[in-house]
Amino acid sequence: MVRQLLITVVAAAVLTLAAGTESTAQKSNPCAAKNPCATKNPCTAKNPCSAKAAGPVKDAAAEATAKAYKGWKKVNDQPVLSQSHGNRFVFTYVNKKAEGAGLSGKFPFAEGAVLAKESFENEGGKPGARAPLFIMEKRKKGYDPGHNDWHYATVNPDGTIAMSGTGKDGSPTQFCAACHSVAKVNDYVFGNGTIMKVKPTAMGAPATNPCAAKNPCAPKNPCAPKK
Ligand code: HEC
Repeated sequence: MVRQLLITVVAAAVLTLAAGTESTAQKSNPCAAKNPCATKNPCTAKNPCSAKAAGPVKDAAAEATAKAYKGWKKVNDQPVLSQSHGNRFVFTYVNKKAEGAGLSGKFPFAEGAVLAKESFENEGGKPGARAPLFIMEKRKKGYDPGHNDWHYATVNPDGTIAMSGTGKDGSPTQFCAACHSVAKVNDYVFGNGTIMKVKPTAMGAPATNPCAAKNPCAPKNPCAPKK
């Protein structure tokens, strides 16, 4: 069914392209550079939406986080159903350096602050199998000045790193920052369902959400729930 949708959308986009109306194509074409899943072009192997994109990557900091986060402060005791992260159940943990800003609401976060969000597949409305760990790590000033110097990573349940990078164009994690920039007022952190002191931020419509079920990139998106 989803595949069907994907094919339909791609076909529609190709048709639009053929008609030569570029601006419309930009909007509907999952391969367009403006697409939230695009690094440059989501049809290439480098794209975060591509199943092949998630080859093993090295990220020592993310590996360390995956090992340590269980000992950090858990900022929500009830699981949050996260539509933006594949409709999975999530819990957020913050390290010592992130507690200051996170709990006081005085942003920005300090260098070395790390937020780790563990996720579980939605199995009949309850947290089921372990799913990826989503990480935001505040790096040194100048690391990615256009996006508040956050580093993003995802760690698979088996401990391998699926994605690692900045919010810059062409980075495999550009789409993380693109969505999180909606929460700029909280230094890119949403904090939904947590005890963190954040200003609630409205997210974009599901159609623009690269992780939304209806999004053409979703089936291959690392945020998409596994079948
Ligand atoms: C379409 C929007 C969207 C995208 C894309 C997205 N996130 Fe999030 N993220 C959210 C929202 C909304 C929350 C708040 C909790 C929730 O609903 O899951 C969140 C929460 C988080 C948190 C906990 C801190 C916080 O902001 O509350 C981390 C860490 C995180 N995301 C990492 C990532 C990483 C890494 C990526 C890319 C691989 C990513 N996110 C992609 C929307 C997004």
